[in-house]
Amino acid sequence: MSSIRDVVSLKLFSREQLDGILDLAESFEDIARGKKRSELLAGKVLATLFYEPSTRTRLSFETAMLRLGGQVLSVADALQTSSAWKGESLADTVRTVQNYADAIAIRHPEKWAAHNAAKYASVPVLNAGDDANEHPTQGLLDLLTVRRERGSIDGQTIVMVGDNKHCRSNHSFADGLANYNARLVLVNPPELALDREQIKEIEAKGRLAVGETTDLPEALKQADVMYIVRIQKERYSDPAEYERMKGSYKVDRAMLEAAGPNISVMHPMPRVDELAPDVDDYPGACYFRQSFNGVLIRMALLALVLGKAQLR
Ligand code: NCD
Repeated sequence: MSSIRDVVSLKLFSREQLDGILDLAESFEDIARGKKRSELLAGKVLATLFYEPSTRTRLSFETAMLRLGGQVLSVADALQTSSAWKGESLADTVRTVQNYADAIAIRHPEKWAAHNAAKYASVPVLNAGDDANEHPTQGLLDLLTVRRERGSIDGQTIVMVGDNKHCRSNHSFADGLANYNARLVLVNPPELALDREQIKEIEAKGRLAVGETTDLPEALKQADVMYIVRIQKERYSDPAEYERMKGSYKVDRAMLEAAGPNISVMHPMPRVDELAPDVDDYPGACYFRQSFNGVLIRMALLALVLGKAQLR
């Protein structure tokens, strides 16, 4: 099996690689929960360079590294506190940080920032989100969540609700799902549709069936998994357009109960107003387990790119 250096896009991964990463991730469960100690990444340093806000992604990368015995350098507000503020290019920053760290996790407001960073860097680069484009580590933790909650990814109907146009988590999750014999139903206002090109790419793989509807209650009746995201306010260049779309979809517990008792409810978080707090007690609500799965996935990816684990 080929080794992995960078993790910039899920488009480049085969089904075998994805399954291998999920298996490896699950093997770290006890270490992720702090029940077992590990020195697997002792002596290794991860730099997290975040040019956009984050809670889960950055902290789960960091705890993944720490729990595997590695160490972390963290720039949490890189637009203000790194030399980017003085006008330094990302290429120069990356070629500097590679002198201090063995891998770089980067989140950036420009499309392709991580892909470009990977071209310059002599160390592995992990894309923690580039603009509205991709978020591959989130896509992997979402795949793992479906597998853990439902027992398998094949055979599931995933109803993806909301800002399918701007949410990079949805883009990467859909890229991952494209490798499985499952069904993806996109539910969004027409203005927030997933890019046609991406749908074509997914369909060309011949595994995932993609459907689209604006009828949320009907879609939920077919759902094994509902994946919902907030409207991505920061991606709107026109505030009037955001104001128009704000509040255009919302799911509450009564809607889920009307559809059935057994839907796994996923959300990459943060939640704003699209998913009511009363869903937290619905039996299938699993978004906090989902954020734990991010630690497992990031452990697996760090172990792989730092050469301390291999895919079978
Ligand atoms: C997502 C992101 O940053 O793209 N959040 C995350 O990483 N968990 C989704 C979002 O911000 O809505």
